[in-house]
Amino acid sequence: MSFVYPTTTHAAGPPHLAADVSTTGRALFEGSCIMCHGDDGKGSMPGVPDITGAGGPLTQPDRMLIRRMLNGFQSPGSPMAMPPKGGNPGLTERDLATLVDYMRSTFKP
Ligand code: HEC
Repeated sequence: MSFVYPTTTHAAGPPHLAADVSTTGRALFEGSCIMCHGDDGKGSMPGVPDITGAGGPLTQPDRMLIRRMLNGFQSPGSPMAMPPKGGNPGLTERDLATLVDYMRSTFKP
């Protein structure tokens, strides 16, 4: 496996995903997200919503999802917040973009 990350920013367009995004995405998800969101994205503890539904959060634009994952997010009335970067400060914006792709391709309603 080799990952060649462009040094330029990808703010102006969709991220250029590595061919092995599913492997990378899986590893990132297991490392930082699975404890709350569960293997299937339906939530593994009370307070964590099912994010897989048709018309659910994953249908939002990439940049909105990435901003919410980057900064943390709590919707009105929600019992629990999504921590910034899932509590893993080591994640880059590119990792988050990879995670968005992984979640969209893995979690089906
Ligand atoms: C400590 C538990 C926890 C961890 C770890 C966590 N999340 Fe979350 N996440 C939440 C909760 C709770 C919400 C719902 C927040 C709300 O709606 O108020 C959420 C919401 C989300 C959403 C939906 C945002 C929206 O617009 O509704 C996405 C996407 C998401 N998380 C992705 C991730 C990813 C990717 C990771 C790993 C980097 C991760 N989460 C790690 C608890 C967690």
